[in-house]
Amino acid sequence: MTVSEQDPVQQVKAAREAFEREFERFARFTGDGLSNSSLSLTQAEAEQRALAELRSRHTGKKSALAACKKLIGRVPADERAAFGQLVQRADQAVNESIEEADRNLKLIIDAARSERESLDVTLPGRRARAGHLHPITLMRQRIEDIFVSLGYIVEDDREIETDFYNFDALNISEGHPARDPQDTFYTSEGFALRSQTSTVQIHAMQRRGAPVRMIAPGRVFRRDTPDPTHNPMFFQVEGLCVDRGITMAHLKGTLAEFVHRLFGPETRTRFRPSYFPFTEPSAEVDYSCFNCSGKGCRICKHSGWIELGGSGMVHPNVLRAANIDPEEFTGFAFGLGIDRTCARIYQLDDIRLLFENDVRFLEQFR
Ligand code: FA5
Repeated sequence: MTVSEQDPVQQVKAAREAFEREFERFARFTGDGLSNSSLSLTQAEAEQRALAELRSRHTGKKSALAACKKLIGRVPADERAAFGQLVQRADQAVNESIEEADRNLKLIIDAARSERESLDVTLPGRRARAGHLHPITLMRQRIEDIFVSLGYIVEDDREIETDFYNFDALNISEGHPARDPQDTFYTSEGFALRSQTSTVQIHAMQRRGAPVRMIAPGRVFRRDTPDPTHNPMFFQVEGLCVDRGITMAHLKGTLAEFVHRLFGPETRTRFRPSYFPFTEPSAEVDYSCFNCSGKGCRICKHSGWIELGGSGMVHPNVLRAANIDPEEFTGFAFGLGIDRTCARIYQLDDIRLLFENDVRFLEQFR
């Protein structure tokens, strides 16, 4: 005998019994079921999903109970009212059981979620680590502050250059021996990584004309083998002052003022004759050791003096390359190594330490 051939009352009974059997596992979520809340959040959510499936199986359109409802119109008229009530009671009981279990499961899930998301305000907080500037940046900012207060503007320019700006315009023609110590990294399209910030002298004069007073801090690149005082990438700051009547005295006065402000008023400067193709005359600049005041110590390698960089009067050919008349204007220029100055100030034996990116080392400088 198939289900549809069964006595309608038996069918309702069977539908209800089938539901009761399956619902048994959810009975713990009814009555005082809430006391049984040892479920984890994941377990409770799985139970909720299983209950939803059970609901659609036993109350959905294709459920046995739905089939019983369809029988109401088919039972003899005198039995219809009683049968209808029987079906309704069964339907109500099934739905109430499911609703109650679902309500309680929701409470259990809510409680588990807020437990998981709750904050323990008594736990010690995690301290945010404050960031800090790289020692080269700190050094660069100190240098910039000094020159800005002397009326210089700060220029920022490209690190990838043409031969013209890196060499030709600086009076270093092709085949000139001065290109050798500044051998750099070339690309196949005729570009090169600049080997000195002197390139910015030309850009600044072309952009601003004369008079001009600027410094240009930045990265430069050379094919130098790394050692305690050399890196293939390092920082320089270029200085340029072009105006009517500028002499070597202005150069000496400016750099003397700079070292006074950086290392203290007792610091002395020394100019040694040198050669750079883009300055004439040229000089290496030294300053008396800030640690021993020139007596000789480990920092100045017992000479009493520390090298600051190169300098000189801007060569007329350089002014011409930037369309400035050397008969009307003269100027001085200098180029200082930031890394070595930084290493001296912070008493580092090796400039390579600055670029090993060891935070324990770098965070000492603030
Ligand atoms: C120059 O680069 C010239 N452009 C400086 C100049 C500018 C002269 C304007 C005249 C007028 P030099 O090659 O000496 O000069 O380098 C200048 C400074 O850069 C040096 O004193 C040194 O502090 C630094 N330096 C040079 N090579 C390296 C390197 N491989 N690693 C770290 N610092 C370096």
